[in-house]
Amino acid sequence: MLIAQISDIHIVKMGSKTLGVAPMEANLKQVVGHINQLVPRPDLVLVTGDITDHGTKDEAVNAAQLLGQLNCPFYVIPGNHDDRNVLWAEFGGSACPIRSSNFINYVIDEHEVRLIGMDSTIENAQGGELCAERLAWLEEILAAEPDHPTLIFMHHPPVKCGVIESDLDGFLGADAFGAIVEDYSCIERIVCGHIHLPTFARFHGTIVSTAPSIGIRLGLDLTMKKESEFFLDAPGYQLHHWTRYNNLITHTISLNDAEGPFAYEEH
Ligand SMILES: [Fe+2]
Ligand SMILES: [Fe+2]
Repeated sequence: MLIAQISDIHIVKMGSKTLGVAPMEANLKQVVGHINQLVPRPDLVLVTGDITDHGTKDEAVNAAQLLGQLNCPFYVIPGNHDDRNVLWAEFGGSACPIRSSNFINYVIDEHEVRLIGMDSTIENAQGGELCAERLAWLEEILAAEPDHPTLIFMHHPPVKCGVIESDLDGFLGADAFGAIVEDYSCIERIVCGHIHLPTFARFHGTIVSTAPSIGIRLGLDLTMKKESEFFLDAPGYQLHHWTRYNNLITHTISLNDAEGPFAYEEH
C-alpha cells in the first residue's frame, strides 16, 4: 500500500501568495502533478492540516479545487489555521468522510493499513489537543480492530520536536493519548504536520513523524532562542510505503531542481 502525505498547504484566495511571498497555489499544483505521475500510483493522499491560511470559505474552495486535481482519493483533517466548520462545509462527506460529534475524526477501513484521522485542533488557539471525548472515540475505534496495522494521522505532533513555535504552543492530553497508544502495538505510525519540517521521534512504543510543508520551511533553531523565521523552500511531501515484510517505510520527496539521473556505470 502506498500513502502520500501532503501537509501545511496554507492555501489563500486564488491568485494570491501566502504571507505575501510563498507561491503555495503553484507549489500545490506541482505536488499534485508529481503525485499523479507516480508509478505505482498511491492508493490515497492524506492532507494533514493547515489546508487554508486564514480558515475562510474562499481559501477552502480554492484548496478543494486544487486538491480535486489528484487522480486518487484524498482525505483532509483540520490544522490550527483552519476553521473546522468551514472545512467540513467544503470537504464533508468526501475528503472528510464523517464527523464524530464536535470533531472531524474518522476511520478509513478498506485498506491493508487502517487509517484513523484525528482532529487535534483547539478553537482559536495554535496548540494541539486530544481531549477526553476524542480519546474515548479513539479507544473505541482501536479496540474494534486491535490486530490490524494502523496509522493515525493528525495535524499536531504530540511530542516536542525542537521547533520553537510548536513546542511553545504545546499539546494538551499528550500523556493520556500516549497511555492509549502504548496498549496497541498495531499502531505502526502517527503521521503529523504543523512544524513544516520532516522529523521522527519515538512515542509510547510507536513512531511520530512530521511531513514538510509544500514550500514554507520553518527555521530550525535547536537553541530555541531565536525569533521565529521561515524560508521559502522547494515543495515537498512524503510517501509512506507499507508492505507486510518491511512494515512502513517513509520517503521524503523534495521537488527541487536536482541534476540527474546519472548512471553509475558511466561514472
Ligand atoms: Fe502550518
Ligand atoms: Fe499548524
